[in-house]
Amino acid sequence: MKSYFPKDFLWGGAIAANQTEGAWNEDGKGMSVADVAQYRPDLDPKDYASQWHVSPDQIRAAMASTDTTYYPKRHGIDFYHHYKADLALLKGMGLKCLRVSIAWTRLFPKGTEQAPNPKGVQYYHDLFAEMKRDGIEPLVTLSHYEMPLYLVNHYDGWVSRQVVTMFVRFATVCFQEYAQDVHYWLTFNEIDSALRHPFATVGVVEEKYANAHDVKQAIYQALHHQFVASALATKALHDINPQDKIGCMMTKTLAYPLTANPDDQVLAQAYNRNNYFYADVQVRGAYPQYMLNYFEEQHIAIAMAPGDTELLRRYTVDFVSFSYYMSVVKTKDETDMAQVGGNLTTSVKNPYLQTSDWGWQIDPVGLRVALIDIYDRYQKPVFIVENGIGAHDTLTDGQVHDPYRIQYFADHFKQVNLAIKQGVDVMGYTTWGCIDLISAATSQMSKRYGFVYVDLDDLGQGSNRRYLKDSYYWYRDVIKSNGVSL
Ligand code: BG6
Repeated sequence: MKSYFPKDFLWGGAIAANQTEGAWNEDGKGMSVADVAQYRPDLDPKDYASQWHVSPDQIRAAMASTDTTYYPKRHGIDFYHHYKADLALLKGMGLKCLRVSIAWTRLFPKGTEQAPNPKGVQYYHDLFAEMKRDGIEPLVTLSHYEMPLYLVNHYDGWVSRQVVTMFVRFATVCFQEYAQDVHYWLTFNEIDSALRHPFATVGVVEEKYANAHDVKQAIYQALHHQFVASALATKALHDINPQDKIGCMMTKTLAYPLTANPDDQVLAQAYNRNNYFYADVQVRGAYPQYMLNYFEEQHIAIAMAPGDTELLRRYTVDFVSFSYYMSVVKTKDETDMAQVGGNLTTSVKNPYLQTSDWGWQIDPVGLRVALIDIYDRYQKPVFIVENGIGAHDTLTDGQVHDPYRIQYFADHFKQVNLAIKQGVDVMGYTTWGCIDLISAATSQMSKRYGFVYVDLDDLGQGSNRRYLKDSYYWYRDVIKSNGVSL
């Protein structure tokens, strides 16, 4: 294929601390929201929304338990102890960039401490130094669904303004400590997902509020605090290391109208516009009028401190990153229409698309549409920091044949190539879960995204040995040829 990928394109992979590290209570780490996420075999894994729900009773039960079987994120893939060997495998694939996150609770176990836990600080020093030795550029998320549980229980999560100060302290320590090795940062993973799963993202426990309106009010207040924290973190990074880059991170939820009926177009447009709200604030530096109107209509009043507007305006991000897994379809009357599952919401089935084992609509062309839309809207470099297919893989005689994954990535990479040809400035592409990890929503191990197979099942049983899948060798060739082999 004729490749338009730039020479310095960051071909990569992505993981998050809470889904890989394990060692949930080692070396002074505190509990995070991820440590109370339960694997519930009784739940329908396609029912994304309910998988994310955690009630106050479930939090209490989880805090009293040291079980790791049904709290799989507590053991992850034991990356905490295996990271050197795992990085060596990723290096063997030629990976140029690895997106990881820093577990806030390793550095600040409760979140309230004034100074960080030295063992936590050291762990990430070692990790980033090893990545550098392997020639792998770190892309680091500060907050990936792993805020301290203490802040949820004692501060109502991000609803409290005090959490802004604590987060900025955490971020500043990271920028200072890892200045030598880390030059690309992200603030909040999928910041827009606060409305879809408020507990894991902004620490809002829905049962604490009287009604749906109050829950929404709390979530938008919490989001405002994350916007302010993002601005302050951006300022801190540029004060410490002006040449380093920081990005926002959104879930790209691309919606199509089902028909040419203008009413369907209006619905799809509204959905897409709403998806841009978060990046509009972080990139353009102000709340868009359409959201201010919405707040007024919904009687949502956001408490803003003096100076917030100016902070948002001054400290906007350097680049726009996003995850992309699927597209959705909007139409005026959804009654009796077939629905599919997904990481966003259920959607009307798109007759032109296949679905994954978990019912997510596979749409490579949508990735090109998303890239062009985002770039045209913001005129900032874009970075695809998550994309991939969760599938059932089978290990036989030490081998995993995964042609479906190869096909999936080939189709998506080709669309990125076309977007670059169309003039989009794409910094890189870190595929999600380049090594198998625990699913964020369902806490399953059997939902595998990786090029490297990890021999564990949903109950944490197995050798925990790593095996290279067919897609590993395929991706290695793609990286080596900078896309020409596609
Ligand atoms: C994204 C998250 O929403 O989707 C990741 O940022 C997550 O943490 C990924 O793992 C895939 O979702 P899941 O539920 O299949 O793990």
